[in-house]
Amino acid sequence: MISDQSQALDAEQNAAVDCPWGSDNACIAYNEILEKYDFHNACNRYSTATLCGDVSGLSVLDLPSGPGCYALYFLGNGAKAVTSVDLDANFVKEAGEKIKRLPPKSQHAWQGLVANACIPQMYAQGPFDLIRASFVMEVFPTLDLTRACLQNLYDNLKPGGRIVSITASGAHTPEDGKVVLDTVGMATTDLTKINPGDPVDCTYVKLSTPTTISWLWRPEEQLRKVLQEVGFSDICFQRLLVDPQYSGPDDLETFVNHVGNRIVTATKR
Ligand SMILES: C[S@@+](CC[C@H](N)C(=O)[O-])C[C@H]1O[C@@H](n2cnc3c(N)ncnc32)[C@H](O)[C@@H]1O
Repeated sequence: MISDQSQALDAEQNAAVDCPWGSDNACIAYNEILEKYDFHNACNRYSTATLCGDVSGLSVLDLPSGPGCYALYFLGNGAKAVTSVDLDANFVKEAGEKIKRLPPKSQHAWQGLVANACIPQMYAQGPFDLIRASFVMEVFPTLDLTRACLQNLYDNLKPGGRIVSITASGAHTPEDGKVVLDTVGMATTDLTKINPGDPVDCTYVKLSTPTTISWLWRPEEQLRKVLQEVGFSDICFQRLLVDPQYSGPDDLETFVNHVGNRIVTATKR
């Protein structure tokens, strides 16, 4: 079931979360990225699955859900309930289409919701055992909005629940940037020359139309502090892992040692 609470947002809050997503083009580019960039499956997805661990019987919040690949993963691996939330209605709709491929029991265990993550609300099927919240801490124009989002996520967790998130928060040098471009075909801003809150551009050069996705620089120290402020414990930032089964053409071991992406885990005690 999909519901849309985005219309309930007031104009000021909507303006505050203006982001480069929310269009059919963003959806198409994102799907082509998932298809053409092996690191999404072999590093991002593998790291997320490894750090989420056994999800059977868990209630999971997937925010922002993107096009729903992870909702499929969680339900396919025995999660009791999955709620997918994204500001972009196209993504929530696409996630819903994917869920229709699953057996009826899994379909009933899924809820999709179009909502703004920095507005406090308790989501359907919560509170949750696990929240996957990748690439969201850096979409907000102010650190206060990032904090509001993380507070909302914290409040949606059960005591003992965990958050698993990938962020682009690790600094890297121009030399690292060249390695990332050469190994996977992704060109990024030199993160050592910018300040917290500055824009970061990442261009996917292997797409049929090279596409730039922008976000705001939120370094590890800043995110760690905000995670602590909202109440998280056991905060850990680490480099991405590489699926040992990966046999494709990209040198992903080199890639993970140079890219700024980090996988973050934290607990609500
Ligand atoms: C880079 S994508 C990441 C998607 C997914 N987490 C993944 O790992 O594939 C960033 C997502 O954040 C969503 N987003 C941006 N601002 C948001 C907000 N205020 N509330 C909820 N989702 C938001 C976008 O629509 C987009 O799906």
